[in-house]
Amino acid sequence: MKAIVVESENLSLSDVPDPTPASGEVVIDVVAAGVNRADILQRAGNYPPPPGASDTLGLEVSGRISALGDGVSGWSEGDEVCALLAGGGYAEKVAVPVEQVLAVPAGVDLVSAAALPEVACTVSSNIFDTAHLTTGELLLIHGGSSGIGTHATQIAHAMGARVAVTARTQDKLDRCREFGADILIDYSSQDFAEVLKDAGGADVILDIIGAKYLASNLKALRTDGRLVIIGMQGGTTTEINLGHLLAKRLSVMGTTLRARPVHGPGGKAEVVASTLTRTWPLIEAGTVVPVVDRVFPLADAGAAHDHLNSGDVIGKVLLSVGD
Ligand SMILES: NC(=O)c1ccc[n+]([C@@H]2O[C@H](COP(=O)([O-])OP(=O)(O)OC[C@H]3O[C@@H](n4cnc5c(N)ncnc54)[C@H](OP(=O)(O)O)[C@@H]3O)[C@@H](O)[C@H]2O)c1
Repeated sequence: MKAIVVESENLSLSDVPDPTPASGEVVIDVVAAGVNRADILQRAGNYPPPPGASDTLGLEVSGRISALGDGVSGWSEGDEVCALLAGGGYAEKVAVPVEQVLAVPAGVDLVSAAALPEVACTVSSNIFDTAHLTTGELLLIHGGSSGIGTHATQIAHAMGARVAVTARTQDKLDRCREFGADILIDYSSQDFAEVLKDAGGADVILDIIGAKYLASNLKALRTDGRLVIIGMQGGTTTEINLGHLLAKRLSVMGTTLRARPVHGPGGKAEVVASTLTRTWPLIEAGTVVPVVDRVFPLADAGAAHDHLNSGDVIGKVLLSVGD
């Protein structure tokens, strides 16, 4: 099969061996693959795959099941699915534990389904299972126009939370409003903690910036607020006044999806199952939609990375692989 191979950060479409399904795995003939910031970090040597994972880029795909490993039941060859991966998505075929496979939601086309696994599992596990967002609370989402941000906004809005977002331009903020954001903050000209003062502060913050925003995030939270950090685009190390945590009874948490084991508490199997229960009905009802910015051919994966890096993206960038 063909797959994208990385050599000294250069990407090429090359011949590699076909995967075979281990026990408990299925092989998917890939139709589309999602592009994630993690792929760009991995390409640069800064985000190695977890032990045992494919070293091919790609954390999510959609496609059709073409082979079943021993012990797999409930799926058949030809089934249209999408899947969460620890790696291997930039390829014509990928093997994946069956627990990480999700049926394509009714009403979603097979290519767009590749935009769902990473954002849906990341958002569901973080804002609900980790930060326990509830109806009527205020959620601040940094990077409201990103793949994660556009999905989180729709989900939180659908669940009856109020949503504040940060983004860099008015165009992006206008799109965020269409997805359900109530409070729009241009981070290039506004201080988000100051803006949120009028709303009494955020109950939950979904943060992708890390160190650079930590102090302001603590300031922006109200009493009993929860900060969940899922990205470190603004660095890993900083100093804070712990007094703010104590006085407002704040919680600061961090998670990553890729490093979770498949099984066990908090594992990928658990995350996928709860995402299917919580999020898939909202997608099938049309309340939450996949947001696809642009689709590139697999051979142009480098151009897809350049596009994601351009900052000119709303939602997800995909690679078209089969069909
Ligand atoms: N921990 C996990 O399990 C996990 C899983 C998936 C993704 N993530 C992380 O989630 C983030 C979003 O990923 P993605 O693939 O959806 O899209 P992405 O293309 O990585 O999105 C980057 C976003 O960062 C925003 N941004 C940059 N500087 C900012 C700042 N100073 N303040 C507020 N926003 C800022 C950008 O907004 P503008 O364009 O408006 O500047 C853009 O929306 C990434 O950091 C990714 O690593 C984590």
